[in-house]
Amino acid sequence: MQKRGTFISLEGIDGSGKTTLKENLLALMAGNYHVIGIREPGGTVISEKIRDMLLDVHNDGIIGKTEALLYAAARSQLVEEIIRPALIQGKIIIADRYMDSTIAYQGYGRGLDIEFLEDLNRLCTGGLKPDLTLLLDIDPEAGQSRRNQDIPDRLEKEGFEFQARIRAGYLKLCEKDPSRIKVLDASQTAEQLIREAMGMIEAALS
Ligand code: TYD
Repeated sequence: MQKRGTFISLEGIDGSGKTTLKENLLALMAGNYHVIGIREPGGTVISEKIRDMLLDVHNDGIIGKTEALLYAAARSQLVEEIIRPALIQGKIIIADRYMDSTIAYQGYGRGLDIEFLEDLNRLCTGGLKPDLTLLLDIDPEAGQSRRNQDIPDRLEKEGFEFQARIRAGYLKLCEKDPSRIKVLDASQTAEQLIREAMGMIEAALS
């Protein structure tokens, strides 16, 4: 694939503020760049149907491996239908979650084998990694207090220790791949966070 665009993913535990940051970045960049925002799981008709299945609190019978395969299926569709074509067209993509979520949640959170998940990620993405990943790091208690008004989905119901394992997993991923994954302190103000994220994105684009 002749790739000309730039692929940026946002990662972090539930309540870390990725979605707000994504919306702010899209608004800020829209005037100067061809930029699109996507979310995972979701972003295509098929992937949104898989998302409904994954987040439905009634589906508490889903076992870990099935869960991982469903996230991978949603991602595979998104990569082929949206991400690759957009990169070929030279667009900038801002993704609310991508492959690192699978390692953090299904690996460090659920305890599935990390190598199996890395293989799965390679299969469902064809090896396509983000050029830059911004990890919004926050204490799970602070993350939870931000979400207090929301009705929790199936994964958000897992509670505190689950989120703490995921946070630690993300930080390990960052240690393994520091040139791609940059950590941002998500407890700072929205304005500071946007400024810091924009600085990192501009450095990646130049
Ligand atoms: P969402 O409502 O989009 O949460 P958030 O706003 O925090 O991103 O729900 C996505 C949920 O799916 C979230 O709890 C993280 C989880 N998830 C995984 O467990 N594995 C994955 O590979 C992905 C992409 C998401």
